[in-house]
This record gives sequence, C-alpha cells and structure tokens, in this order.
Amino acid sequence: MVILGIETSCDETAASIISGGSIRSNVIASQAVHETFGGVVPELASRAHHKTIWQTVKQALDEASLQPKDVDAIAVTQGPGLMGSLLVGLSFAKGLAISFNKPLIGVNHIDAHMYANFIEHDEVYPFVALIVSGGHTRLVYVDNLFSHKLLGDTRDDAAGEAFDKIGKILGLPYPAGPQVDERSKNGDPKFHDFPRSMIKKGLDFSFSGLKTSVLYYTQEMGDEYVNNHLDDICASVSAAITDVLTAKLKRAVQQTGVKHVMLAGGVSANSMLRKKMDLLSQRMHLTLMIPSVQYCTDNAAMIAKTGELKAREGLFDSLEIKPFARLQSVF
Ligand code: KG4
Ligand code: ZN
Repeated sequence: MVILGIETSCDETAASIISGGSIRSNVIASQAVHETFGGVVPELASRAHHKTIWQTVKQALDEASLQPKDVDAIAVTQGPGLMGSLLVGLSFAKGLAISFNKPLIGVNHIDAHMYANFIEHDEVYPFVALIVSGGHTRLVYVDNLFSHKLLGDTRDDAAGEAFDKIGKILGLPYPAGPQVDERSKNGDPKFHDFPRSMIKKGLDFSFSGLKTSVLYYTQEMGDEYVNNHLDDICASVSAAITDVLTAKLKRAVQQTGVKHVMLAGGVSANSMLRKKMDLLSQRMHLTLMIPSVQYCTDNAAMIAKTGELKAREGLFDSLEIKPFARLQSVF
C-alpha cells in the first residue's frame, strides 16, 4: 500500500510517502517568516502553506519516483492546529483525492505523533505514551490500535510551550526549545532549584508556575548575571521540566502495569529527557520507544504512517470532513 501524507497544522508544510511500511520520502518546508515575530502568525502561516504545498507534495512524489495516480490513499492532518493552516492542507488533499479518484484519510495530529514510533519500532500493545509537543502534554494509555485512554493532561502550558516561553524570557529566539536544549548540554542542572509543580500529585501537568518563577528570577538577578550564566540556567530549567515528565511517566507505568512506553512530539527530541527516560526504562525493565529526531518534530511521515494504519483497518473518510482546531473525542 502506498500512502501520501500531508501535514499543515502549524508552521511546517510537509509531505511524505510511505510504501509497504517504509518511508520513501519526507519533505519539510519550514516557514522562516515567523522568526521576526517571536511566534507563529496564523495568517502568514496559511499564506505560506498555500504557496508551498504543491511544490512540497510534488517533491515528496518525485523523491519516491511516483505520480499521484500511483498512490492508494491520501492522508492529511485534520486537526488540532491553526484553522487556516489546516484548511489549506485539507482542501488540497480533497482536491487531489477528487482529481485522481483516491480515498481520503483524516488524521489526528496528536495520534500521529504517537504512531510515528511505529515507523521504526514494531507495533506492540498495551503501552503508555508521553506526548510532549508545543501545544499538548498528555499521558495516554493505549491498549490497541486507536483505542486510547487519557491518563493525564496539562492544566496550563504544554511542555514545549514552557520551553519556548522560558527561552523567550531568557532572550533566546523562537522556537527556543532546541536552543535551551543545546545550552543545557554545557550547563549545571543543579545551578538553581526551579519548582517542579505537581511532581508528587497525580498525572496532570502544570508548567506555568515554572515560567513565572524563571521570570521573577531573571528580574531579580538582572540581565548581565543571566547572560553570564545562561547555560546553567537553561540546564536548571530543563532539569525541572524533565524531572516532572519523568516522574509522571513513572507513576503512569506503576498505575497501569505496562511494559512498553513511548515518547512522542517535538519535546521528545530533548536530549535530557531522552537520557532520563532511558534510565527510567532500564530501572523499571521497560521497552522504550522514541522516534528518531526527524519524526519527533512536526513532519508528514507520521501522517503517512497513521494513514497507513487507518487504511489497514479500512478507516477511510468522506470528502465532507472538516478541520478541527482543538482536540476532540478521539482520545
Ligand atoms: O510536536 P511539535 O513539532 O509541534 C507541535 O505539534 O506543537 O513540537 C514543537 C515543540 C516546540 O515547542 C519546540 O520548542 C519543542 O517542540 N522542541 C524542543 C526540542 N525540539 C523541539 N523542546 C526541547 N528540546 C528540544 N530539543
Ligand atoms: Zn506536532
């Protein structure tokens, strides 16, 4: 089976081909236009998707030496994400589906982050997934394909959002997550003891207190001190975020008794988180799945993979499907 995956939920226009379980192409056009604004500007994002989508899809097909007629189904992100951006991808996919008489598959972006793990790992159930992206931080129990139970969710900022907002406070350019990660590698994680909110309680997350704490800390210490100790502060922030994420995953494993865990979403590219998860799984004798970095942050290979899994189950959609900005009942 050959599936074309299309992703336009935020600021990456992406297209990918999966064929018989192997990724044949994975093209990502990132939108540099937002950098000057310190965050994604929705209207600019949809315009940029509109400009690049055909070129991106064409490149994904070319790299796989295919034409649209060779594809068995078209999988496209239906939500959650920016409404204007989702509309560009979904409308394009519908047009292609009509023109070439191909079935359409709407894909939940958050599901896709999780199922990206099955690009490189064998399918195995049940598992607990820690999904950590720019917009979501969730713990999900999955007992079978597309059978999900939400165990924990963020009460305020998502983990990626916390990395980005704190990085901005520290003067780092958007998106700050990867830069905080890089700087942390040269810093001391014990330099400052930032709060680990709700670490001892339940499976929900809260990161807005940490953000406020960093803001007050930088105001108290002053710009010069912060700049001189930036690596140490970044490492201490990363330690606070990753300690909470690790502790919650551990609790979810204890509560569910699973033997398999997975990380998913942009923040799963974080090196400190990867190390801590590795250690945790060794100690608890768990198998740990983490996508390689190219499949952690937004990409279309994960959409193609989830499309393939849906097609296998006969889960095709009508051309009437609409985009959704927020997560619905899928979990
Ligand atoms: O999953 P993703 O690509 O997009 C969403 O669906 O939101 O996640 C993007 C988030 C951003 O907040 C970005 O700063 C964060 O993932 N991120 C990282 C790293 N790489 C990406 N955060 C910490 N360390 C990283 N290495
Ligand atoms: Zn994402």
